[in-house]
Amino acid sequence: MAEDMHGAVLKFKSIKGTRDILPDESHRWQYVEQAIRSVMHRFNYKEIRTPVFEETSLFARGIGELTDIVGKEMYTFIDRSETSLTLKPEMTASVMRAYIQNNLGEQQPLVKVYYLSPMFRQERPQAGRLRQFHQYGAEATGGTSARIDAEIIALAMEVYEALGIKNIELRINSVGCPECRPHYKEILKEYLGKVYDKLSPESQRRLEQNPLRILDSKDEKDRELTRDAPLMLDHLCKECAAHFNELQDSLRLLHRTFTVDGRIVRGLDYYTKTAFEIISSDLGSQDALAGGGRYDKLVEELGGKPTPSVGFAAGIERLLMVMEHQQIAIDNDIHPDVFIAAPDDEGRRWALAAAMTLRHAGIPCEIDLLDRSLKAQMREADRQHARFVLVAGASELQQNAAQLKDMRTGEQRTLTLSNLPVELKELQRDSGKTQ
Ligand code: HAM
Repeated sequence: MAEDMHGAVLKFKSIKGTRDILPDESHRWQYVEQAIRSVMHRFNYKEIRTPVFEETSLFARGIGELTDIVGKEMYTFIDRSETSLTLKPEMTASVMRAYIQNNLGEQQPLVKVYYLSPMFRQERPQAGRLRQFHQYGAEATGGTSARIDAEIIALAMEVYEALGIKNIELRINSVGCPECRPHYKEILKEYLGKVYDKLSPESQRRLEQNPLRILDSKDEKDRELTRDAPLMLDHLCKECAAHFNELQDSLRLLHRTFTVDGRIVRGLDYYTKTAFEIISSDLGSQDALAGGGRYDKLVEELGGKPTPSVGFAAGIERLLMVMEHQQIAIDNDIHPDVFIAAPDDEGRRWALAAAMTLRHAGIPCEIDLLDRSLKAQMREADRQHARFVLVAGASELQQNAAQLKDMRTGEQRTLTLSNLPVELKELQRDSGKTQ
C-alpha cells in the first residue's frame, strides 16, 4: 500500500513514471520555458500546439512499426467509437500531420515551428527516464539545404548556452537515404551475420529488420563486436556525402564544435541524411539531452507532397537535472509584494477589498484568509517573502491610514488610504531599483 511522506496510507497516488511539478519548483519550469521561448523567437520559430492524442496509425506510420517506441512503448487505447488512439510519444509525426492538414506549406515555403509539450512513452522508469516527460523542439519544413540543419543544431545548442549550461557535446552523423542505405544495410548485415551467435538476443532480433540499431546497443559485448563494423558514413551516396560536408562546413561557420560519430542511428525510423545528439556527461546512463535530424520522406509517407524537413527535440526534465547538477541557481521571485495584515475584524473586512484594489493596480498582494493573530500574520508574510506588510485595524482606518513595514529594512511609515495604490507602486518601483 502506498504511503505519503509521513507514513500515512494513501488512497491514490500518481502513476509510475509520472510526477507532479509542485508549487515550489514550478518557477524553475517557468524560467526554463521562458528561456526556450526567447531563443525560439530570436531564431524566428513560431509556436505550434497539437492535441495530446492522435490516431495510432499516424505514429505507427511516422515513427516506424519496428521501433521500440511503436513496438512496446506507446500508450494506446480504443475510444468509445472503436478508434485506436495513442498519447503522443513524440511531436514530429503530429507536427507533420498538422502541416499537411492545414496546408502550412502553401502560406510560406519554409515553415519554422517550435513546441513545448508533454510526451508519453511506457519505458522502464529510471533517473532521467519517465513515462510522462516534457519535450521542447523545433521543426523546419520545406528546404533541403544543410544550412537549415546547421541552424537547427545551433538553435538546440543555444538554449543550453542561454541557461548557462556547460560541458555538453554535439555528435553528428549521416544515416544516408533510400538511395544508399539499403546497400549499406546489406553490408552491415553480412558483417554482423558472422558474429550472430555472440550478439545479445535484442540485437539478434534486430539484425534482419533494423540492423543499424545494433550499432547503438548499450550491451558491452555488442559494442565490442561492432567496434570495427562498417559505418554508413563510409557508404554514403554522392548527394548524402555532399550534404554531410556542407553541414560540417556550416557548423564551422557558426563556430560550433562537434564530433562525427558514425554510431548515432537514432531510435526513430524517419531520418535521412543528418542525425545528431547532444550529450551531457552529468546525466548518467540516460545521457541524451536532445536528438534530431533530417527526415525528407516523412511528409510524403504521411500522405503529403514530398517536402524535406529537419528538426530536433530535447527533454526538459533532463535539462533541469543538468542545471541542478551544475548548481545553476534559479531564483524564485514569485512572491507577494504586499501582505496586508489585519489586527481585528474591521481590518479583515477592509483588507479583502483593499487587496483587490492593489491587485487591479498590478501589485501582487496577499491577505490573511485564515483568521490568524497579527503575530501569526507577520510570520506568514515573512515566510512568503513579502516585500512590504501593510497593517490596518479599526483605529488606523478611522484616521484614513495604514502602517507600512518594509520587511527588508524594518522601516515603518504611515500611508494615506486614498493614495495607497499610487504610493505602493512608487515603493515597488524604488525597491525594484535597489534589488
Ligand atoms: P528522441 O531522441 O526520442 O527524439 O527524444 C528527444 C529527447 O527527449 C531525448 O534526447 C531526451 O532528452 C528526451 N526523452 C526521450 N524519452 C524520454 C523519457 N522517457 N523520459 C525523459 N526524457 C525523454 C524525438 O522525440 C524526435 N521527435 C526528435 C526530432 C524532432 N527529430 C526530428 N525532429
